[in-house]
Amino acid sequence: MKSPMKQKVFVTRIIPAPAIALLKKHFQVQVYQKDQVIPRMELIKGVKWCDALLCLLTDKIDAEIIEANPRLKIISNYAVGVDNIDLKQATMKKIPVCNTPSQQIVDAVAEHTMALLLALAKRLHEGEELVRNDQWKAWDPNLLLGRQIAGKTLGVVGLGRIGSGVTERAVNGLGMRVIYYDIVRNKQFEKKYRARYVSLAALLKSSDAVTIHVSLSKSTYHLIGAKELRLMKKTAYLINTSRGSVVDEVALVSALRNMQLAGAGLDVYEQEPNQNHPLHALHNCILTPHVASATLEVREQMSKDAAESIIAVLNGRKSQKTVNPEVYGGRKVK
Ligand code: DGY
Repeated sequence: MKSPMKQKVFVTRIIPAPAIALLKKHFQVQVYQKDQVIPRMELIKGVKWCDALLCLLTDKIDAEIIEANPRLKIISNYAVGVDNIDLKQATMKKIPVCNTPSQQIVDAVAEHTMALLLALAKRLHEGEELVRNDQWKAWDPNLLLGRQIAGKTLGVVGLGRIGSGVTERAVNGLGMRVIYYDIVRNKQFEKKYRARYVSLAALLKSSDAVTIHVSLSKSTYHLIGAKELRLMKKTAYLINTSRGSVVDEVALVSALRNMQLAGAGLDVYEQEPNQNHPLHALHNCILTPHVASATLEVREQMSKDAAESIIAVLNGRKSQKTVNPEVYGGRKVK
């Protein structure tokens, strides 16, 4: 193993300073300095130079990038989702891939999900526009009638830590009932939140709001398409803070246009950013720019987590945040 100070870390974008300072205590560090997504040629150059790559969800780490450097020892992704990385290829090359699944990020995304749900039900975005544009004429008993949330049914698709965090808030904070769908059933969870396990079709049919918390993979790509949207109640909302491609956006736009759904709250999209997208013309949706995890606390924690994984691996240890433990022979990382 090279002495730590000889080892090199390449960071693909400016991230909070404490993490860079931490890395600099141990290694040579290069940060791509422009405040933009790193161009591919620069990424390849950086990867060739380094022993450890700290990248973002906007960086496509495919086979070409992974193969650009046979000495690459770790890919530390500044995100929970790792769908931007060719995991199979990294695993084949025995490169650990690490992510940043802190409690802070779980809380922030769960909070953003609740914010989208409440904003839709209370029609916040429409009310704000009215006031701001001086179109509010007088108090009116029929003005912007939203929907009550208490007592309604929330359908949670994907019961990982974020899905559970959303459930906790919905049941304990808003008095909702929860039904859920996941490939794995969790009876303890059902007992704790009086939640009911149902099929995806049953969930779509009986939820007043559906919220998606699965990672993006071949099996979840367009999990919610035209057929699934047709199963939903006309009064229901769809919320997505996971990955855009879990929902077929063309089908969603058509469902929203035809009032087949009451509304959608989206933080993620099939293409990001999505300038001039048909969604922008629709008033029954509220759109945020992939910022569910965007709090100061989260960004600092993500940087720290991503840096610590690199420090562990470049010092010959394993990171607990390894998403492909197969690189260590399949054993759970301790
Ligand atoms: C993630 O971590 O995957 C979010 O989408 C961005 O923080």
